[in-house]
Amino acid sequence: MITKQKGTYDIYGDLAKKRAYVDEILATLCEKYNYGYIETPVFEASELFHRGVGETTDMVQKETYDFKDRGDRDITLRPEGTAGVVRWFVENKLYGNMTDPIKVFYNMKMYRYERPQSGRNREFTQWGFECFGSDDVMSDAEVISLAYNAYRLLGLDDVTIKLNSLGDTESRNNYREALINYFRPHIDELCEDCKERLEKNPLRILDCKVDAESEIIKNAPKTLDYLNEESKNRFEKLKDMLDLMEINYEVDTKLVRGLDYYNHVVFEVVLNDSYALGGGGRYNGLVETLGGPSVPGVGFAMGYDRTILAMEENGVNIPINDSIDVYILYVSESEKETACYLTQDLRLNGFIAETDSMARSLKAQFKSVDRFNAKYLIVLNDSELESNKVTIKDNKTKQEESVNINDLLDYLDMHM
Ligand code: HAM
Repeated sequence: MITKQKGTYDIYGDLAKKRAYVDEILATLCEKYNYGYIETPVFEASELFHRGVGETTDMVQKETYDFKDRGDRDITLRPEGTAGVVRWFVENKLYGNMTDPIKVFYNMKMYRYERPQSGRNREFTQWGFECFGSDDVMSDAEVISLAYNAYRLLGLDDVTIKLNSLGDTESRNNYREALINYFRPHIDELCEDCKERLEKNPLRILDCKVDAESEIIKNAPKTLDYLNEESKNRFEKLKDMLDLMEINYEVDTKLVRGLDYYNHVVFEVVLNDSYALGGGGRYNGLVETLGGPSVPGVGFAMGYDRTILAMEENGVNIPINDSIDVYILYVSESEKETACYLTQDLRLNGFIAETDSMARSLKAQFKSVDRFNAKYLIVLNDSELESNKVTIKDNKTKQEESVNINDLLDYLDMHM
């Protein structure tokens, strides 16, 4: 038997219905914030993600699905959405005439070679949004508000935004120096990867999974102590705006996020202190890193699968339609012909309609009526059909009514 790959899963049945419900809520909300939909390709040139996310990040060193295609090109399966969206932005020169910010949202599968566990898969979905062209704190606040309200609309009222600032380039460089000076005397106590990270990318020592519990890492310098005045003011202003919008946030001085492109605000959404349900931040240098001019950007991605899991675990009632509107039953060949066109007619007029397509007995058809939880059933009958009538039965009250077949749609419209 061929089985699915580790860290992947099939989406069907109730889960598919739950996802459709969540999709609709999120798409509607993104549209309210004036974001337009975008999808980028599942595979791109490896260079895009390697350069965009950062060569020394865990994601690029350990998690990307990299391969050569038949034309000997280096290809990577999309591990995250931001780099691809930036590639789209640069490739289409959308920076040319930016009178307003360009705002897009996506719902895309991502691929990371991680150790699968609950809420961590190798194929997973992110709902994300990116905003290009504004360096004003107002756009940080908008992205955080969109993220926060998405969870709240999904019924996860108790989420908290964990917030930190990495500051501008000057602040980041000062912080980098401080980390190198702090870690150098302790480097022998850290893992081999961290030894390499020390000179290349000391920030990444802070999210090392091997040394996560080490006191050395816990006591490392904090970004906020290295922010210059401008970056500090900016962070204060952002917090004021979040207060104004009554967004539940907490400053977490340890939060640095595992991708290299961030500066200024970084944030994650958590519930009951478990793993992050989503994360984002500002990435003012990324457009330039990927070949465009200097255009600021800020964005967020929700761990969609984790969010649905959290909804289930927290008892959020996700409405799932587990019934159909009408089941049409029949016996004779002429009744079957009527069932054939009548079912189509109902379906095209917006009703969920079903009939027998397995040439089964009436008894078996009645069992389907129950299994599909049909609200109404119609048992076709040749003698009734001669006078253009059908009998429709309310499956709950068991009340029956004889209706002219031409009035059936009106009857259902009125009663449902
Ligand atoms: P990220 O933190 O790597 O950020 O991923 C965002 C969210 O995706 C995580 O918080 C988590 O909920 C979910 N996630 C990550 N890995 C997995 C996995 N293996 N299985 C299930 N869920 C997972 C980014 O990807 C950035 N591109 C976010 C961003 C957008 N920053 C700015 N714009």
